[in-house]
This record gives sequence, structure tokens and C-alpha cells, in this order.
Amino acid sequence: MEKKKDIVLSGIRPTGFAHLGNYFGAIRNWVRMQDEFDCYYFVADWHSLTTHPDTKELKQSVVRLVAELIGSGLDPEKCVLYIQSDVPEIAELYLLLNTLSYTGELEKTVTFKDKVRQNPNNVNAGLLTYPVLQAADILVHRAVKVPVGKDQEQHIEMTRNFAERFNYRYGNVFPVPYGFNYGGDLTKIMSLDGSGKMSKSENHMNTLYLADDDEMIRKKIMKAKTDSGPTEPNSAKPVYIEGLFTLMTIVSAPDTTKKFETDFNNCMIRYGDMKKQLAEDMVKFITPIREKISELQHDEKYMKNVMQEGATKARTSAKATLQLVRDAMGLKYY
Ligand code: TRP
Repeated sequence: MEKKKDIVLSGIRPTGFAHLGNYFGAIRNWVRMQDEFDCYYFVADWHSLTTHPDTKELKQSVVRLVAELIGSGLDPEKCVLYIQSDVPEIAELYLLLNTLSYTGELEKTVTFKDKVRQNPNNVNAGLLTYPVLQAADILVHRAVKVPVGKDQEQHIEMTRNFAERFNYRYGNVFPVPYGFNYGGDLTKIMSLDGSGKMSKSENHMNTLYLADDDEMIRKKIMKAKTDSGPTEPNSAKPVYIEGLFTLMTIVSAPDTTKKFETDFNNCMIRYGDMKKQLAEDMVKFITPIREKISELQHDEKYMKNVMQEGATKARTSAKATLQLVRDAMGLKYY
């Protein structure tokens, strides 16, 4: 008998344009996993409402993100790609899991405390129970592998606790999931000024988006932070220089990177030349992805079809889990 494949689940919030940090930190792994596992990937629109209550641009952001995911290599024929709010079973499971989570542990969550600090005027209950909704996302498909970055590890840990509590109290329904990445760390993409991770909330000039056109890519890379170069052979690289080398390793030919490495180590590096080369290689890398995304976005019929089919497949899986959950809990009266 063929062994059942592990179920994989991950999600991304529709809060802005997809950037290289998303691509190399997450999406690229999702693409790789779709050939090996039973993968569920979704756009977490409910989660985005906890921090982005204005829904004027939501539709645009959600549909664009679906296009960005497919343009980056997700294949809706190989994985289940859907939108969270298309699966009401997630909300049902969220409600039930809320009774298994304690306000004390939710208040202690690092991401919650960060968001309270950043936005003290909108400490809504959705923010507090964000990890419970995330647990529902994962458990609703009885997923085991959850590809996420370090910042999400605590949420996965909480999901494990909720799953174990449920199983203990009501009977074994959920496998206990874990964070998964192909051996070692994810590629960390630094913002172009080296001030932190590349992110949506950063200054847009320091973030490379999949939607950036050729001129914008060149402009951003040429403005990236450098200095007058090392004065001692084989010096340690400052973070912003390390960041440029990381990008080069990803998009340029190995020989190209090696040449600039050697120049750096010999104190002969010309950052202008390096950035020119990096810009051209980055243009070559991003352009086909950007064009694919734009083509998809113009094909409304295809996009609608993908979203509908994803919703149907995701609901089939979610409904089966909710049936087990209701049976285990005894929520059955006639
Ligand atoms: N919280 C995740 C983030 O901000 C997004 C997310 C929502 C998610 N539900 C999930 C990730 C379930 C993995 C599994 O990046």
C-alpha cells in the first residue's frame, strides 16, 4: 500500500506586495514541498483584519497575493491554494479551540505584546486570539508539517499545546504538528540598508518587491548602503555588505560572487561595480516572475477558477476534520 504523504500547511497575510524576503524566506520552500507532500497553502485574510481593519484594498491584495504565489511557482494542480475566509470550518474550529486556550498564555505571546506596543489603540480580541486562529488553520487539515520562519515558532508551539489538550480531553483527533524547514536555516534576506529583515513595513526603497519594474530594481540596488570598503585583508563584512553578498549568491552566477568575494578579501572591491552586476542579475531574476504575475492578474477567469477550486478542496478536508471534532466532543444531539 502506498504510504500516505505528510500534510503540510502554511499561510501568508495579504498585507502588502510580496517581496524577496517572502520569496526566499517562505514561498520558495512551499514550492519545493508541493512535489513531496500533501500541501495546503492559503491567504490569511481573517488574520490581516486584526491589524489592517480597513478593507478597501483587501480584494485587490488577496487576489494579487494569489497571483504572486502562483507566479512564484505554486501550482494549483499540485497543492491546495485557497483563501481562509472561503473555509468557514476554520471559524468553527477556532471557536472550539478558544475554550481550550487560556487568556494568560495568550497575553504572554510575544507577537501579541509586540502588536500591543505598536498599536495601543487597537488591542482587539482578534489580536489576542490570533494564535488560536492560526492553530485552527493548521489543525483543520490535521497538518503535521508547518513551514514557517523563526518569528512564528511560538505560535506553532501553542498549536501543539492546543492539539494535545484537545486530544487529552476529547480523544485523539489531531496529530501534533511541528515547524518544518529543509535542514538548516531559511535564507534571511536583509533590507537594502542592512537595518533588519526585508519587510513590508520597512521603507519601500529598502525592499525589493516581485512587482518592481527593471528601473526600480536598478534604482533600489544602486542606492543600497555600502561604505568605502575594507582596509584589512579578509575583514569581517558589515551586515549591509553581507546582505548584498547574500543577494548575489542567490541570483548571480557562482563565479561572479566568487570574484567579488576575492576582491573584498583583497581590499580591492568596487561596490559600484558589484551593485551594477547585482542589479542586472536581479532584473533577470525578477522580470519573468513579475511578468507571470501580471499575466495572471489580467486573467480574471483563471484566477476566479483557481480560488473556487481551492476553496472546494480545502473545505472537503476541513469538513472531514470538523466531523471528527464534533463526534469526539459529543456535539451531536439527534
Ligand atoms: N501568522 C503567520 C504570519 O504572520 C501567517 C499564518 C496564519 C500562518 N495562519 C498560519 C502561518 C498557519 C502558518 C500556519 O506569517
